[in-house]
Amino acid sequence: MKKISIIVAIAQNSAIGKDNKLLWHISNDLKRFKKITKGHQVIMGKKTYESLPNGPLPNRKNIVISDDKNDKFEGCITVYSINEALDLCNETEESFIIGGASIYKQFLPFANKFYLTRVHKDFDADTFFEVNFNDWKLIEQEDITDDTQNNFNYSFLTYVK
Ligand SMILES: NC(=O)c1ccc[n+]([C@@H]2O[C@H](COP(=O)([O-])OP(=O)(O)OC[C@H]3O[C@@H](n4cnc5c(N)ncnc54)[C@H](OP(=O)(O)O)[C@@H]3O)[C@@H](O)[C@H]2O)c1
Repeated sequence: MKKISIIVAIAQNSAIGKDNKLLWHISNDLKRFKKITKGHQVIMGKKTYESLPNGPLPNRKNIVISDDKNDKFEGCITVYSINEALDLCNETEESFIIGGASIYKQFLPFANKFYLTRVHKDFDADTFFEVNFNDWKLIEQEDITDDTQNNFNYSFLTYVK
């Protein structure tokens, strides 16, 4: 079985983004994201790639999915279908699906691990990712209730299939 993991931060109302940006700045979450994905390959949609402030994520193999065959993103492997991206995933190395909504939704049936940051607040958004966690088993939970940089609480949750 290919090791495919989703990593995402989702608000209480399933919001994940607006105007091609994240909805919050949670430095604990960025640190966690970096720690978990470092040294691995990350797979993202073209819009998420374009939203990165400094281009490809360092110390990771960046794979970008685009529907435009003329696209080539420097420092990344560009692919043009979900299947092409799946071909680059294998059974020994964990591959991380890092967004956005369209890519999460298409990879959800192939994923066997899910790193969720659940933000316990509703956000005004234009991009949503709804997941039914009944199919998943919760193996780790950390509730953050003392982040002085944010006026909301959040939880780090890890699920497996
Ligand atoms: N909260 C989080 O953890 C998190 C993480 C990442 C991103 N985000 C947010 O999510 C939002 C972006 O999500 P999004 O859904 O709009 O964009 P996206 O998934 O990042 O990228 C969409 C792009 O990928 C292409 N694409 C999708 N599926 C394809 C396929 N099967 N074959 C070829 N190309 C394909 C699309 O082409 P088409 O033109 O054919 O659709 C489109 O160009 C932003 O607001 C971002 O900040 C949030």
